[in-house]
Amino acid sequence: MSNVTQEALLKALSTIKDPEKGADLVSLGMISGVAIKDGHVAFAIEIDPARAKSMESVRQEAEKAVHALPGVLTVQAVLTGERKKGNGQGQGGHGHGHGHGATEGEKPLVPHVKSIIAVASGKGGVGKSTTTVNLALALAGMGLKVGVFDADIYGPSMPRMLGIDKQPDMTEDGQSILPLHNHGVACMSMGFLVPEDAPVIWRGPMVMGALEQMLRDVEWGELDVMLIDMPPGTGDTQLTISQKVPLTGAVIVSTPQDIALLDARRGLNMFRKVEVPVLGLIENMSYYHCPKCGHEAHIFGHGGAKSEAARLGCDFLGEVPLDIEIRETSDGGQPIVASKPESPHAEAYRAIAKKVWDKVLLIQSGKTARQTPKIVVE
Ligand SMILES: Nc1ncnc2c1ncn2[C@@H]1O[C@H](COP(=O)(O)OP(=O)(O)O)[C@@H](O)[C@H]1O
Ligand SMILES: [Mg+2]
Repeated sequence: MSNVTQEALLKALSTIKDPEKGADLVSLGMISGVAIKDGHVAFAIEIDPARAKSMESVRQEAEKAVHALPGVLTVQAVLTGERKKGNGQGQGGHGHGHGHGATEGEKPLVPHVKSIIAVASGKGGVGKSTTTVNLALALAGMGLKVGVFDADIYGPSMPRMLGIDKQPDMTEDGQSILPLHNHGVACMSMGFLVPEDAPVIWRGPMVMGALEQMLRDVEWGELDVMLIDMPPGTGDTQLTISQKVPLTGAVIVSTPQDIALLDARRGLNMFRKVEVPVLGLIENMSYYHCPKCGHEAHIFGHGGAKSEAARLGCDFLGEVPLDIEIRETSDGGQPIVASKPESPHAEAYRAIAKKVWDKVLLIQSGKTARQTPKIVVE
């Protein structure tokens, strides 16, 4: 028997249109509470309760479309009232609409940070840190107050990439740690406390404790945006961070091979599970740019991320080529956005940063629906 997958389900549902809004149920973010078990499928269609009657036919159509999928035995679609949308900025400090973050009564983790974006990937080595640092500089170049939080406890790279080789100071009252600055961005990293090449052998709960402390006990000050360089992978640590930190959204970095291997999809699904909006996909090492002759070689094929993003119902934010200059500058503490702002690569990062920021503003103004259907697979 073929297994029913979330992708197949969403694909089937993306053929069903909301007659009033003219777009499909998936891209309108109306599908939630997906549960798939042994061929039995259930999901909800979120609607304005006033439309319950007129949407009944759409519900039936959706059921029918899913029922036609191979492996589906039963389908249950229910109409539910839409949940509150938007990220609650301005609704009492650092509100967030995802139902995660600091629990009530607890001091909020990062009270003066207006938006937080996780930079994640399905696996390591795809250029997550390189992307984080260059996006951070590009956002700072837009006049924003930017912080970078290096959550990669086992392999912190922000000290090296931001060119910071110092230890952080304490605040005068000795209660908090001050972040370090370079290239106009604030940064906190385990790498400031432990040498980069020292193996860090910690168990999961210790990692979480350290991460929470680095967020809570660091005097970040007022920030417009904090980028989190996430640890690689999509395991428990990543999931816990996404639940504990009031993320505004996430961007997924992937290479063309990564996309072929579906690692990127794993990253995407993790955020969808915890209802963090995925702002989009960035394809890194998209093609090889020869610095000598300017030739572009599409070693791993090209355009995979763009079509994959479309298939997964998330936006494509842009591509960055494989170029030795990008590596040398970021590994040398002078990321290309800072050291070669005129280069086309710096421009590519700036264009991505602008797209990301536009989306953050949209989410904060509450004008956009979450793009992410809630997926629960038992
Ligand atoms: N677009 C790129 N072109 C060339 N080298 C890159 C590019 N992106 C990343 N790298 C290099 O690849 C290595 C891994 O990148 P890194 O950002 O540390 O990945 P991750 O954080 O995902 O593990 C680094 O040496 C980095 O300089
Ligand atoms: Mg990294």
